[in-house]
Amino acid sequence: MPYPYPAITPEQKKELSDIVNQIVAPGKGILAADESTRSIAKWMQSISTENKEENRHFYCQLLSTVDDHVNLFHKMFYQKAHGGRPFPQVIKSKGGVFGIKVDKGMVPLAGTNGKTTTQGLDGLSECCAQYKKDRADFAKRCCVLKIGEHTPSVLAIMENANVLACYAIVCQQNGIVPTVEPEILPDGDHDLKRCQYVTEKVLAAVYKALSDHHVYLEGTLLKPNMVTPGHACTQKYSNEEIAMATITELHCTVPPAVSGVTFLSGGQSEEEASINLNAIIKCPLLKPWVLTFSYGRALQASALKVWGRKKENLKVHQVSPGQQPCLSRKVHPKWSVGSRSQRISLHF
Ligand code: 13P
Repeated sequence: MPYPYPAITPEQKKELSDIVNQIVAPGKGILAADESTRSIAKWMQSISTENKEENRHFYCQLLSTVDDHVNLFHKMFYQKAHGGRPFPQVIKSKGGVFGIKVDKGMVPLAGTNGKTTTQGLDGLSECCAQYKKDRADFAKRCCVLKIGEHTPSVLAIMENANVLACYAIVCQQNGIVPTVEPEILPDGDHDLKRCQYVTEKVLAAVYKALSDHHVYLEGTLLKPNMVTPGHACTQKYSNEEIAMATITELHCTVPPAVSGVTFLSGGQSEEEASINLNAIIKCPLLKPWVLTFSYGRALQASALKVWGRKKENLKVHQVSPGQQPCLSRKVHPKWSVGSRSQRISLHF
């Protein structure tokens, strides 16, 4: 066994911890607005809106008005808001921190029967160095695993854990906090117990790989799925059962050195995702991490619908900065922990 390898310096550790603490400050979460142009196409289609540059820019403009931290896709990262300021600058000027998606999408895991991994490790260090210069503070990389009768396989679990760990240490060496996201999809008819079991095995592998790659855990965020039954599962579970399964599984796998756990919404409705997170935060088990959200769909669905219904409001795109449309978070009636709130609504 070699001596501990100093993968990052004490100064880098301090910088990373400071960023993490800013991200998980009380009442804060992350708006995951990092859909690629291709993914946005599906969203635009769902509200019968043309997927053109002007509309994408308009939507990004709206998203950058939230009070949370924002994760962006490369193209939006370099675009300018009304008034000529780059989006990241707009987010920072409101005390937010912004991140960048650095994976290049899913690819088949060669030699397997439909398993996948995420590409984008080549040149990652150079990309991160540039993003850091351009003032990004955190990054996102997602690896997706599916639950089936014989899946995820050990190979898929190991490969994806390793890819996430390589990405994490490269980010840290460039002063960027990695969000480690092993997402287990809710597709299928599996029950809560099966999801808990698989999530536990996946996270155990991820933390082993992070240790092997000398990742500084205090300078990372975990972005897991909540433990939920599959979409086609006929058995119903209470929010408290979901919360208990989620925290129990985190207990078994996530070291207390990890400061923040930022859940993805994974196709839950805005209401479900709010109520489940509330139940998780209130779960009466020890929780050594700050628990918050990094939602995509569960923060944007209502806003998209309103936009779809009020196309004429697109003209506000041309108005002066003082008259800009904005997004605000509404407190859900059942959402009662501190000042945390979520759900975005659109105001023109
Ligand atoms: P959802 O909250 O829509 O699951 O998206 C979060 C995310 O960033 C998935 O990679």
